[in-house]
Amino acid sequence: MENKIYDLTLNFWNSAVIRAGVKLNLFNLLEKKALSSVEVSHHIKASNPRFIQAFLDACAILGLLEKEEDKFTNSAISNEFLVPHQPKYLGDYVCHITNYWHTWGKLDTLLLEGRTELPFENGFIDTSTYWADYMKAQHNRAMMGQGAKLVENVNLNGKQKLLDLGGGTGSYSVALCAANPQLKSIIVDQKEPLELARKIVDENNLANQITLVEDDFNTIELDNDYDAVLISGVIVIQSEKENRHVLHRAYNALSSGGLIIVQDFMRIDNNPSRQFLDTMMDLYLLLGFSPNAGNRSGNKVASWLKDTGFINIKQIPLPTQLALILAEKPAKIEQIC
Ligand SMILES: C[S@@+](CC[C@H](N)C(=O)[O-])C[C@H]1O[C@@H](n2cnc3c(N)ncnc32)[C@H](O)[C@@H]1O
Repeated sequence: MENKIYDLTLNFWNSAVIRAGVKLNLFNLLEKKALSSVEVSHHIKASNPRFIQAFLDACAILGLLEKEEDKFTNSAISNEFLVPHQPKYLGDYVCHITNYWHTWGKLDTLLLEGRTELPFENGFIDTSTYWADYMKAQHNRAMMGQGAKLVENVNLNGKQKLLDLGGGTGSYSVALCAANPQLKSIIVDQKEPLELARKIVDENNLANQITLVEDDFNTIELDNDYDAVLISGVIVIQSEKENRHVLHRAYNALSSGGLIIVQDFMRIDNNPSRQFLDTMMDLYLLLGFSPNAGNRSGNKVASWLKDTGFINIKQIPLPTQLALILAEKPAKIEQIC
């Protein structure tokens, strides 16, 4: 029984080790080579090889490295997920989640104060690193399969015009536009995410299909002839009032019969394997995003969609981190005011 307490207490050591490995570019270094701790120390310019030997042994015990005699090389899992040029790279996600190190370290205080604290507010990292890691982490998730699942579950045949509110790095517009060459997407977001979005859109040769608009999705004047609106990763970070407002705006932006796609952390099925992530996510969102944030139930989001006027609401659990809800604006109904 006491092992459970030891495990819970020591788990943060594991997060520190994987974070340091990513930050030190270790997995890039050991992708194809086997190096000793002295050689690794030399490459990463560490002053004391004894520290690096202990660290590499810790990586090996966690399964991140393999050790043969005195040489270390990446394990298969590190080669797949922690080497930056690999398609399933998750290193930015590792950094983003662990950027909340000081925030979690102050959990008792923040609980008593009922307060959110972002990583650049407590000095753990600076604002630009926060934004870069946050946005690249969202892109990691999309590339890990979330983008493919979205494409698989959303039929945009014949649809011409997509509005991606809070589209971030544009990963999902990229996935949908690549799969639907007739589709044009307009992404509305803030300056920092759009800088990364520009790069990703260009790398995918989709500049002719995707337009980036720097603006506030709560106030920007929107056309009213979109075939589809995507709201991904937004519902969790806003209050119910803000969410109802953005759904209302999406409704008015859609043509009759248009499709709304909500993709987010949502409790849709009662799959026990999701309970840990859903439960911890709710706490993390409060601590690290906004006192109004939260991991909502699919039924709650569906009820907001219904109240807004949407019909044919379908909740779709996915094997990936984010779930989907699809709904339609009824054909030939007046705009709501
Ligand atoms: C969690 S990210 C999701 C990004 C992307 N849609 C995805 O699913 O990966 C939330 C995004 O909403 C954007 N956002 C939040 N409030 C916004 C607002 N009022 N106007 C425009 N963008 C906003 C943030 O800048 C951020 O890029």
